[in-house]
Amino acid sequence: MDLYEYQARDLFEQHGVPVLRGRVAESPDRAREIAQEFGGTAVVKAQVKTGGRGKAGGVKIAKSPDEAAVAAEQILGLDIKGHVVRRVMVAEGADIAEEYYFSLLLDRAERTYLAMCSREGGMDIEQLAEERPEALAKVCVDPLVGIDDDKAGEILEAAGFGVHDAVRIAPVLKSLWAVYRDEDATLVEVNPLVKTGDGRILALDGKISLDENAAFRHPEREALADVEADDPLETRAKEKGLNYVKLDGQVGVIGNGAGLVMSTLDVVAAAGEDLPGSPRPANFLDIGGGASAKVMADGLDVILSDAQVKSVFVNVFGGITACNEVANGVVAALTELGERASKPLVVRLDGNSVEVGRAILAEYDHPLVTVVETMDAAARKAAELAAESTYEN
Ligand SMILES: Nc1ncnc2c1ncn2[C@@H]1O[C@H](COP(=O)(O)OP(=O)(O)OP(=O)(O)O)[C@@H](O)[C@H]1O
Ligand SMILES: [Mg+2]
Repeated sequence: MDLYEYQARDLFEQHGVPVLRGRVAESPDRAREIAQEFGGTAVVKAQVKTGGRGKAGGVKIAKSPDEAAVAAEQILGLDIKGHVVRRVMVAEGADIAEEYYFSLLLDRAERTYLAMCSREGGMDIEQLAEERPEALAKVCVDPLVGIDDDKAGEILEAAGFGVHDAVRIAPVLKSLWAVYRDEDATLVEVNPLVKTGDGRILALDGKISLDENAAFRHPEREALADVEADDPLETRAKEKGLNYVKLDGQVGVIGNGAGLVMSTLDVVAAAGEDLPGSPRPANFLDIGGGASAKVMADGLDVILSDAQVKSVFVNVFGGITACNEVANGVVAALTELGERASKPLVVRLDGNSVEVGRAILAEYDHPLVTVVETMDAAARKAAELAAESTYEN
């Protein structure tokens, strides 16, 4: 789960990372009030979960409360890379002398935590990493030790900071480590981390991604959930306890077991490649080992509510759950959905009790269901049905 900048700012504050005051506004009037309360220069910042806000006109400096209202007026409603701005954060303005970069992340490829640090922050860090990788220090962080004085010193030295600056920045890195560890984050990024004219170190912009696998340790997190920005189908699937990820194609996919579903996505994409409109998988949905009729019905219901879906591929390998149970699940699901089941379904069953399963579907003889024996042929059929239906409309 990615957080908004204002949420990251609040977590920073709770863990002792130095930040400036900042508060959220949903209207220009509210922005004016906050700027009035803070006094002095304010910065009005779009709250969207994407980078490059500054370049898109989403960060504006306001020298008076009225200017803050005008800035909020300009930023609210702005579309930044497909994210419409519904809230701004009004923050105190900092007197910036230097801008640095710091991040902590989970490096899956190297199986470690990684700290990245640069004296050249504020700008496009990806560009810096590409053009002058030597200016971006990368230092592994042992999860059991974290960032202590030694590690902070190592990181800052690698980034080329002198002792004078390093002494001031080190405590901030230690606090950022506390955020990373205590909040079960997979990313904590500060860009820019600044030094002010009077030598203070401040985190002026923060990005945090939280590890959802650790959500059970953080009941307070529910308040951070961002239902309005989430995909509505994913929200619904989550409510039903389904393992569903929305993708951008036309062929709905249901399978049992994450590995089988992943390869089903590949096979569907390959099958659709040279068809008109190149139909692609519309989602990932793993109904798991004990695929009951209820789970099948819930899964089909979510997939069929996706307006982009033109056909559905049910790909099940009967193991612990035998194919007859899966077939009964499909029948029960279609019966329960009634007219909502409006798109063609290609079913491929194999494994435990496959003959019984196929017989059940043959007897049910639903006009929208086609049973195909192999995975490749079934993927091809589902992709063709999607292509035909897209072509017709
Ligand atoms: N509170 C502040 N006071 C003064 N200047 C600020 C403040 N916040 C941001 N800035 C300036 O605006 C620039 C852009 O701000 P910020 O980093 O928040 O947005 P961004 O980098 O464009 O967005 P993103 O990080 O999402 O790509 C900063 O590099 C900094 O120079
Ligand atoms: Mg930034």
